[in-house]
Amino acid sequence: MCGIVGYIGDKQAFPILIKGLKRLEYRGYDSAGIAIIGEETNTFKIKGKVSDLENFVVNEDTSGNIGMGHTRWATHGEPNNDNAHPHTSTHGKFIVIHNGIIENYSTLKESLLEKGYSFKSETDTEVLANLIEYFYLKGGVTAEEAVRFALQKVSGAYALVVLSHDEDDKLIAARKGSPLVIGIGDHEYYVASDATPIVEHTKSVIYLNDFDIAILKKNELSLKTIKNIKITPKIQKIDLEISSIEKGGFDHFMLKEIFEQPETVLNTIRGRVSAETKTIQHGGILSVLPQIVNAKRLIIIACGTSWHAGLVGEYLFEEFARVPVEVEYASEFRYRNPVLYKDDVVIAISQSGETADTLAGIRLAQDAGALVIGICNVVGSSIARETTAGIYTYAGPEIGVASTKAFTSQVTALTSLSLMIAKEKNTIEQSLYENLISELVEIPSKIELILQQNEKFRAIAAMYKDAENFLYLGRGFFFPVALEGALKLKEISYIHAEGYPAAEMKHGPIALIDKKMPVVVIAAKDKSYDKIVSNIQEVKARKGIVIAVVTQGDTVIRKMADHVLEIPKSHEALAAILAVIPLQLLSYHIAVMRDCNIDQPRNLAKSVTVE
Ligand code: AGP
Ligand code: GLU
Repeated sequence: MCGIVGYIGDKQAFPILIKGLKRLEYRGYDSAGIAIIGEETNTFKIKGKVSDLENFVVNEDTSGNIGMGHTRWATHGEPNNDNAHPHTSTHGKFIVIHNGIIENYSTLKESLLEKGYSFKSETDTEVLANLIEYFYLKGGVTAEEAVRFALQKVSGAYALVVLSHDEDDKLIAARKGSPLVIGIGDHEYYVASDATPIVEHTKSVIYLNDFDIAILKKNELSLKTIKNIKITPKIQKIDLEISSIEKGGFDHFMLKEIFEQPETVLNTIRGRVSAETKTIQHGGILSVLPQIVNAKRLIIIACGTSWHAGLVGEYLFEEFARVPVEVEYASEFRYRNPVLYKDDVVIAISQSGETADTLAGIRLAQDAGALVIGICNVVGSSIARETTAGIYTYAGPEIGVASTKAFTSQVTALTSLSLMIAKEKNTIEQSLYENLISELVEIPSKIELILQQNEKFRAIAAMYKDAENFLYLGRGFFFPVALEGALKLKEISYIHAEGYPAAEMKHGPIALIDKKMPVVVIAAKDKSYDKIVSNIQEVKARKGIVIAVVTQGDTVIRKMADHVLEIPKSHEALAAILAVIPLQLLSYHIAVMRDCNIDQPRNLAKSVTVE
């Protein structure tokens, strides 16, 4: 998820690019850069925010009417000056900015290195720049043709803008899997990751589709596929106001991020879980795979929502990889003088990669000689750098303080990792392994189906927005989901809520049940379904209100619960990712109806970098 802006016309490009990048900074903000064709073609890029880039070039020549800019959300190569975009090809023929992941970049890089190409960065994007140049220097092709030939060789996702040194009167833009919009001005064109930087200049846009390529000159736009099939541009009018567009048309970043989850779960799976070959490969932990496979115990350390993801991980690893797992609050782990063995493997989970307690837990475990791997969302973050190996969740920037897409991506990563280890240890039946892989790649489309019920969840939220307490209950894989659902509600609506193992209700919390108490029960089909049905009856017997998350088509609980929130059928080990979605939306709508500050709830911070 990064921000891309391009301009070609009669105006000075620089101010348009900088302002456009600032509007896109919510998409990624670890480094930024621009390239502008003036008397010379000048490229400037640095680690930091767009404002740092602006200050960096204050005494530089940024004149020119053609240019492009990029604000990065690193996926390959940590945030630094070399990995910032734009990237220039080895012989200086092309400059590229890119949003997305080139999955086969390492194979392409090896082939280009053999052909004498050199690399200044660790990014997949630089591979693309050199691949385009390779096709160009083979001779007899135009810049556009070189771009088209190169794109036919890559797998993965890209939205890119290319400048050609020899053909410096055009911008070349292309997309597959990552968004790109063309703005049509008066003898000028804009290109951007979304309409945010464009709408103040023009309301006429063309949304590129996958495999489209656009060649933009000052007075001419040519649109075709990368296979050179001409396309008639479909010009649309955008009527969004700037204020709303920054959130992609959503009222809050939290809602946008909830609705991004089909894409972000897919990003966590992409290039790692293959339904075709029925294989799972986490390249980021290959160097320590034997130690993980032979671990006598896994210790998961995390905080908050990440700790809830870790709890799901416990059920996954114990169920499939048959390895004992302990899940620890990092804040407790770091102070209680835990007993650690050298063949322990610690998994630190953190969206921000900067949580102080989790970092301290990592250092304590490493001092004791244990291997520590990380599951992080922010590339190059402290936890990512301090752990020996790890898995990036690739969920893109999570701006809303209440974590949503990070949680589902963390659970997705833990699911694929536990299956990968189970396969290595031969503790899982091949048929189950293959079935779970097939089901895992279906999860993004199942999330889409749940999101389509948003209005139904909003109607239920309206009935209970004034409740003073909520109880969330779940069993097995759904117990951590109960905890996460309760955390979502309390941290954005300020209603007291607690999650509990459903069977524990009779050991105390049942005393709380009365006709004012909404009880959210995660009751999707699993091995303890009959037990959870009894728990629902216990609540109803005490006049409690039951809001049940059920598997689509459930007819039993529908008769006894006050409301049912349906999720598509799936294996219970994968259903936690689905069951949390209705709870995220329930919490969101209740908080909106209570006029709470959704993206910056009181007293909270996005990353708790203090103890
Ligand atoms: C969850 O919605 C909260 N924002 C909070 O509990 C968060 O999960 C916790 O602070 C851990 O953050 P991390 O994942 O960045 O380490
Ligand atoms: N994969 C590219 C990189 O890591 C682009 C990341 C992005 O979309 O910002 O630089």
